[in-house]
Amino acid sequence: RMPILEQCYNLMDFEAVARRVMKKTAWAYYSSGADDEITLRENHSAFHKIWFRPRILENVEHIDLSTTMLGTKVDIPFYVTATALGKLGNPEGEVVLTRGAKKHNVIQMIPTLASCSFDEIMDAADDQVQWLQLYVNKNRDITKRIVQHAEARGCKGLFITVDAPQLGRREKDMRSKFSDVGSNVQNTGGDNVDRSQGAARAISSFIDPSLSWKDIPWFLSITKMPILLKGVQRVEDVIRAIEAGVHGVVLSNHGGRQLDFARSGIEVLAEVMPVLRERNWENRIEIYIDGGVRRATDIIKALCLGAKGVGIGRPFLYAMSAYGLPGVDRAMQLLKDEMEMNMRLIGCSSVDQLNPGLVDTRALASH
Ligand code: FNR
Repeated sequence: RMPILEQCYNLMDFEAVARRVMKKTAWAYYSSGADDEITLRENHSAFHKIWFRPRILENVEHIDLSTTMLGTKVDIPFYVTATALGKLGNPEGEVVLTRGAKKHNVIQMIPTLASCSFDEIMDAADDQVQWLQLYVNKNRDITKRIVQHAEARGCKGLFITVDAPQLGRREKDMRSKFSDVGSNVQNTGGDNVDRSQGAARAISSFIDPSLSWKDIPWFLSITKMPILLKGVQRVEDVIRAIEAGVHGVVLSNHGGRQLDFARSGIEVLAEVMPVLRERNWENRIEIYIDGGVRRATDIIKALCLGAKGVGIGRPFLYAMSAYGLPGVDRAMQLLKDEMEMNMRLIGCSSVDQLNPGLVDTRALASH
């Protein structure tokens, strides 16, 4: 017996349902992290090291959650981040997320490795703003075609994934694929090796591990879309990104699926912002974080520390897999309701009031 949708009261509830109802291989692909999954767990628990210093007696009758991301007005400061293989969880694939994002006026980042075609997703979005996540192909002609097609279709941001020169070892994913082969394991010949690598590795062999800072000028030359680096993990690289002329970064460890023992995005944000402020560089790029965002308080903490917005991945995949569009719709609405209440409780009526003074970060390592 599956709980009815109305019994999901927060984003973790969708995960619990998804774990029970999803196909084993799909659950393994979505939920897994690299190696011992230390970073995967840290991503959410890092938020638990930040406490609030709320203000009182501010007028919080009307709360405005809206903000802008890369110039686009959105209703709440999160976006649906890129996650590959949407059809593993729902036969309709990523367009289910697109419809949810459109309903709530949030942006979706379309993955290079979507199950639906790029055009199907753009068509489903209609005039709702979309971004593109890019895995850079060894064949740069293909990459150029993907980027310029996205721009021609009206895509408003290019996020180059820089934390995955090789796909991480997600052992849960690898094992589930292996057991899928089951008793036929002896008869699959060469295919056996590939399948034992799990869904992730089977689809990623085109990614160029020679990608380097030297390639950035070329990207800037082939598109007018703002370019952001997704997967930056230290302040030195944020500075280098600014110097290279990109428009933003996502402080992210790929949802704990790449380097285990990478720090959480929120931890890195606390390291980055003071350095940028010291140089008066905090307005030179937009900084986003993702990884482990499950509560509106997580979003608020990230904005207090200087993020322009946050990306959310797995919760919407789980909502989509368990309940389809109504699930995605409810997950987004829950976040809006949580955020409105928590903004009131910390004494802020709009997101431009969020600032570092509202959080106590002394328990963070990079404090
Ligand atoms: C991802 N992520 C990802 N990132 C990327 O740049 N390209 C991709 O193809 C994918 N694919 C992908 C699949 C799945 C199933 C997951 C869970 C994640 C990483 C994603 O964009 C983001 O960094 C994390 O998902 C954020 O963490 P949470 O919100 O899932 O905890």
